[in-house]
Amino acid sequence: MDEVTFVILGATGDLTARKIIPAIYHLVERKKIQNFVIVGAARKKKKISTILNASKKFVKKGKDSVWNKLEKHASYVQLDFYNEDHYQNLQDELHRLEHKFKLPGKRIFYLATLSNHFETITHNLKKYDDKKHTKSWPRVVYEKPFGHDLKSAKVLNRHISRLFHQDHIYRIDHYLGKESVENISIVRFTNRVLEPIWNAKHIESVQIIMNESIGIEGRGSFYDKYGAIKDVVQNHMLQLLALVAMEPPKRLFGKYMQDAKVAILKRTYVESVLLGQYNGYTREPGVKKGSKTETFATLKLSLHTKRWKGVPFFFKTGKFLKSKETRIDVKFKEVKCLMLNNCPTDTNFLTIRIQPNEGITLDVHSKVPGEKSKITTVPLDFSQQSVTAPETPEAYETLLGDVIEGNQSTFVRHDEIEASWKITDAIRKGKVYHYRRGSNGPLQLQKWSKRHKIQWRA
Ligand code: BG6
Repeated sequence: MDEVTFVILGATGDLTARKIIPAIYHLVERKKIQNFVIVGAARKKKKISTILNASKKFVKKGKDSVWNKLEKHASYVQLDFYNEDHYQNLQDELHRLEHKFKLPGKRIFYLATLSNHFETITHNLKKYDDKKHTKSWPRVVYEKPFGHDLKSAKVLNRHISRLFHQDHIYRIDHYLGKESVENISIVRFTNRVLEPIWNAKHIESVQIIMNESIGIEGRGSFYDKYGAIKDVVQNHMLQLLALVAMEPPKRLFGKYMQDAKVAILKRTYVESVLLGQYNGYTREPGVKKGSKTETFATLKLSLHTKRWKGVPFFFKTGKFLKSKETRIDVKFKEVKCLMLNNCPTDTNFLTIRIQPNEGITLDVHSKVPGEKSKITTVPLDFSQQSVTAPETPEAYETLLGDVIEGNQSTFVRHDEIEASWKITDAIRKGKVYHYRRGSNGPLQLQKWSKRHKIQWRA
């Protein structure tokens, strides 16, 4: 990786402080980029040093030398997204800095803003985009959520694809940058042992769990318009489903992965849903009085393909649950018991732990040593940490690295986004049940789970 110009639109926001600046910090620290500038832009009057300082607490063991370098190569432009003249100021500042640091104009525009600004910003960026160098390119990164339903996502896709080439558009889903998520397709398609049993003949059900122990963290006015289904089901959870359920792509790369994911998303339907809201949610700042927005959702989905005929997929996610855990549990079917007694009480599970303790476990039955006919379940456990360097990159660092390299595999294509919105738009929301903070969700979950014959693993 060489030389790049980062432009962060929405530079005063939380995402910039927590994720984007720390990701750039690490790319610089690890010398993955040699020469760079960072230009922050937002409506408020701010100093770039304030923006960088706000990120320091999100970088463990940050080095002063790296922070100083970042500050030397960074600048801030006050920009109202809706004022065209301000984009000229931005352009002037980019020219000044690229000239000063002898950069060719490989520009990454990161739209760390709400998606209702995407259209205007993209339009103005294009208007003031100038290709001054043979090596220069613009790449435009869109933070999630991309739209708020199928209709808005379609309008947005149409609009931005008229302005920028498909290869220059990067729609973020930060889950795709997680080490353990990237590993799903590697494990599935590079091991002979899995593919023959990865189907309805051998698999009984799949559960995808994204439990969170945090709440909405001051994002009330945003969250209240979205809720759990639009916030995490439409994107992160459906991407996990797509990776687990897709047919083998022609290649484990870019367009082929996206083709395979979109194909399975187009055959995915929600059968049943149970929603919840944590107690006290409506007293959160920014949340409407009497709001019915869900902070918890559990879903049963069916995939209409030969491979998955009759295999239910279950989702569970929620804020303020007992603990934070994201995992996928694949439940295999029962084996005919040939023992005289003490048959296994459960079947095999393959668990993919996304976080924490990234790794994979296969539960197998085995004899209890010293006992003739007693069996127990033992885990064949692989921990990601055993094969990765202690400093595994965070999702945003991986994703920014991929944008610089022009690797689209870890980004979401226009038709994937639309297929996902189509699935979630079709959900008929029923009653929203309340639940205690720090619990496992609404009490009604028990009944719902019993009805659908699902025993949650977390
Ligand atoms: C974000 C959601 O996309 O993902 C948040 O907007 C959620 O509400 C977050 O907390 C979870 O991400 P992670 O990486 O902590 O699992």
